[in-house]
Amino acid sequence: MKNVVDYLNLQQINASFEPQLTQAMACCVASGRYLQGEAVTRFERQFAAYCGTDYCIGTGNGLDALTLILLSYRELGMLKEGDEAIVPGNTYIATLLSVIRAGLKPVLCEPSPLTGNMDVDCLPPLITDKTRVIIPVHLYGNLADMESILAVARPHGLLVVEDAAQAHGAGALKRAGAWGDAAAFSFYPAKNLGALGDGGAVTTNDLQLSKVVRALGNYGSSQKYHHRFQGINSRLDELQATALSVKLPRLDADNARRSAIAQRYLSEIHWHPSRLRTLSTDLSTHPVYHVFPLFSPYRDALQAHLTRCGVGTLMHYPVPPHRQPALQAMYEGLTLPVTELFASEELSIPISPLLTEEEISYVIACVNSWVDA
Ligand SMILES: Cc1ncc(COP(=O)(O)O)c(C=O)c1O
Repeated sequence: MKNVVDYLNLQQINASFEPQLTQAMACCVASGRYLQGEAVTRFERQFAAYCGTDYCIGTGNGLDALTLILLSYRELGMLKEGDEAIVPGNTYIATLLSVIRAGLKPVLCEPSPLTGNMDVDCLPPLITDKTRVIIPVHLYGNLADMESILAVARPHGLLVVEDAAQAHGAGALKRAGAWGDAAAFSFYPAKNLGALGDGGAVTTNDLQLSKVVRALGNYGSSQKYHHRFQGINSRLDELQATALSVKLPRLDADNARRSAIAQRYLSEIHWHPSRLRTLSTDLSTHPVYHVFPLFSPYRDALQAHLTRCGVGTLMHYPVPPHRQPALQAMYEGLTLPVTELFASEELSIPISPLLTEEEISYVIACVNSWVDA
């Protein structure tokens, strides 16, 4: 059965950028230049200006963007094998994988039960003489408590690397990507700013770091035939950069639309303390609602009800990283009660910027018919 409201219809989203999207892509195809050309340079300049940073370096995806930042700090002698990175327990597995790929140890921090983001009060007991970096994630488009995280990090001399994969445009005083020493973005197609395939970027104000990240993502080379580092191949390509440049000018309007939909959900859904909650988001930090999460102890029943109604849903994420088979050996015996509760109760409802008022009303009516039953 076709959904009445899809969770996210990427075909519809990308069609809404036509004819510009296909025209720009066709020019790129005709140009004969597919890597390391003007389209990437242009997008990097545009995205750095959008985030408010001096530098942006395109990468192959968000996981590589995070990994390249950490590997670059290793090349610069600011991190070494075995150092500890504090990361949220409540995140997508990519945050942890980047740390492991860079030869560091991810130490998990519980989320605040209210916001779902890193609980700053849990940080100090996790800091050891091996801790070198904190990696907050702006989960679901909500800026992590960056002022408090920086206030904990700086006296210890810790680096702060933002995982901004879900938060393009979030933040009021400063945007996501401009708070830490460096930040990683993903342009996975479903993100608020999504490519037509994989893509990612690093933002930073640190010139030296930006040069090493760029070289490391290009086989360790910043000069043809000359390889200073044992790098990898992870570059944003010309076609993806072209698509992103077409889409970036509408990001703020799309985020505003997501926010308006979220306000309808917040005011019209029949919230119920023991059956249905959501996160408390501080509107003054300008959340961008990459995901609108519901939490219920009866999550599976709620999902089944919404499926019967023809409303698409997803879970972000049903199994937390420390419970994944891939990482089980590393976290044997570790329990993270808040993270695990989130994982068992989360259900995301549609929040595409292209939802109509009727579709939003339908989603609300379906959720309420379950709460009130
Ligand atoms: C929080 C977070 N970090 C990192 C990533 C990795 O991004 P990518 O899928 O582009 O590698 C994602 C992606 O999907 C994510 O949600």
